[in-house]
Amino acid sequence: MSETVPVPDRVRAGSPSKIASRAAYLDAVAHATADPSGYWLHQAWERLQWRTPPTHGLKGDYHSVLERPFTWFDDGELNVTETCLDRHLATRADKTAILWEGDEPGQSRRLSYADLHREVCRAANALAGLGVGKGDRVVIYMGMVPEAAIAMLACARLGAVHSVVFGGFSADSLRDRVADSGAKVLITQDEGRRGGKPVPLKAVVDDALRDQAVDKVLVYRHTGSAVNWTAGRDVWWHEVVPGAGDTRKAEVCNAEDPLFILYTSGSTGKPKGLLHTCAGYLLWVTWTCQVTFDLRDDDVYACVADVGWITGHSYIVYGPLANGATTTMFESIPTYPDPGRYWDLVQRHRITILYTAPTALRALAAYGDGPVKKYDRSSLRVLGTVGEPINPDAWRWYHEVVGEERCTVVDTWWQTETGGHMITPIAPVTATKPGSATLPVPGVLPVVFDGRDHILVGPGEGKLCIAHPWPGQARTVWGDHERYVQTYFTAYKGYYFTGDGVRRDKDGYYWITGRVDDVINVSGHRMGTAEFESALVSADEVAEAAVVGYPHDVKGQGVWAYVVLQPGTVPSHDLPARLNGVCRKVIGAHARVDIFQFVPGLPKTRSGKVMRRILRKVAEGMPESLGDLSTLADPGVVSSIVDGAAQVQR
Ligand code: WTA
Repeated sequence: MSETVPVPDRVRAGSPSKIASRAAYLDAVAHATADPSGYWLHQAWERLQWRTPPTHGLKGDYHSVLERPFTWFDDGELNVTETCLDRHLATRADKTAILWEGDEPGQSRRLSYADLHREVCRAANALAGLGVGKGDRVVIYMGMVPEAAIAMLACARLGAVHSVVFGGFSADSLRDRVADSGAKVLITQDEGRRGGKPVPLKAVVDDALRDQAVDKVLVYRHTGSAVNWTAGRDVWWHEVVPGAGDTRKAEVCNAEDPLFILYTSGSTGKPKGLLHTCAGYLLWVTWTCQVTFDLRDDDVYACVADVGWITGHSYIVYGPLANGATTTMFESIPTYPDPGRYWDLVQRHRITILYTAPTALRALAAYGDGPVKKYDRSSLRVLGTVGEPINPDAWRWYHEVVGEERCTVVDTWWQTETGGHMITPIAPVTATKPGSATLPVPGVLPVVFDGRDHILVGPGEGKLCIAHPWPGQARTVWGDHERYVQTYFTAYKGYYFTGDGVRRDKDGYYWITGRVDDVINVSGHRMGTAEFESALVSADEVAEAAVVGYPHDVKGQGVWAYVVLQPGTVPSHDLPARLNGVCRKVIGAHARVDIFQFVPGLPKTRSGKVMRRILRKVAEGMPESLGDLSTLADPGVVSSIVDGAAQVQR
């Protein structure tokens, strides 16, 4: 059985957090469970900067969510940037707010809270000059530069809604997201840089906007390389932002006004724009960022994610800044220029909290302990992970080699939809178990379903649902509230369905087992199998395709595509590369099929539905447990798939 790892004394010592002991945690759980609305209302008064404090917490529930979305604090008024910036000016104007580490080691920039406040005001003034106002959507397609955070906060200052699109997405994906959000302005940069290579950003924007208009494109110059220019539409950041005025009145927003849209993959080919609102989201990320990590005033905090994903929104930008912390923005990758990069970063900046993904840890562990031990990691106290289940080996490597058993590991389970942490250790409080996300955040009520209506009590394994709304929960899918209800609230009536499988052990600890829907998680990138399938069938050679995930040593999951070619097409040796080129074009640079298996047909029911369960089992290397095949239209197809899979090099 799995061991329990106590919190090291060093992690517990001197914690200023209100939840720094088991008793305090249990007390918070009791209060937040008995009266969630009242508990979070008090927390919201205490932790956020309000213009008009709210008088109540939750309205609505999961039953009436189709007719009337639930709300939190809905008579409160605020501007998110006053919590993140203005209120810190009196106490920590000179403290570093953003510590930027560029792609080349040692290339860094620091922006104090005073600097960041000024830059955000300037950018907000410039955006207002380009016609952006309250409620307008602005797409941000940038790399990891401080200006990406400045752009997000500038939108928030104006009450505009940002939609950050990860800089690896293709022109097609970007165009779809611009169109779906109805964005007026797009903010980008000439190029990004990652691992010594340029990332074309403006060029992709130009391509995306060939048949999708926006009013203005604001372009930040980062690498200085030449870009194409559309007169009348394109505007240089350095020509309009620096002179735009150092202050900007913050727009007063309702607590429930939208703060941002973030697109994420689901079970269909069309990504959905999850909508987060101002106050509930901000409270959730502020609260969890402080409590989970035991974030302290003198911490140097580094979440090495990308702002293009929810982790970057919640735990690089909003959560740390709302707490007045020093937050790191890291432009590079863990293996550039060598696999010691994270530890070099830790040593140089004396980082105390590091937050990364299991896939990065597995990739680094493969290089052995040498690159870690070369650097001084004595500043570290809390080691976080997020994005996918962490296997116990990677967990132990993080704990023993990186942290030398002096740090605690917080394995945080959450989703784009949840806004912030849901099941996670609390650094100074929770004894951990390698591979377990441990216990729920106070007020989060996980429920494990075994089948459609049977709720498990005590230990067991099933589908993970949440029984009660929390402030940070996404309120809708942009422009498609029905889809939101359909996706999250219909499978289990009265519950939020997470799409994840989970096991609960005898101590009440949760072990996430991975997605139970058609979402796959490759190197922490969440992708829909349907997105791959629609990309693949757009290739002339392909008649049909079914894509599933399979266990991959480094990436967590790899992508396995079963492809039926058009009659008469022979799979030439360069066909996989060509088909991956199509995935790159349709989805983005991070979308790559690992294994192509060309098959004569797909296993289908008599009504024509592809039986993905069978394909998953084959890809997982478990053809002996295919289960009942009697409903298949043509059972013969399965044996040829199983035989073909046995030839595949994993
Ligand atoms: C998975 C990322 C196991 C899970 C914040 C979830 C995890 C999906 C963990 C959300 C974890 C995230 N342990 N699985 N600690 N954290 N996941 O929306 O399957 O990009 O549903 O949000 O990642 O991915 P998303």
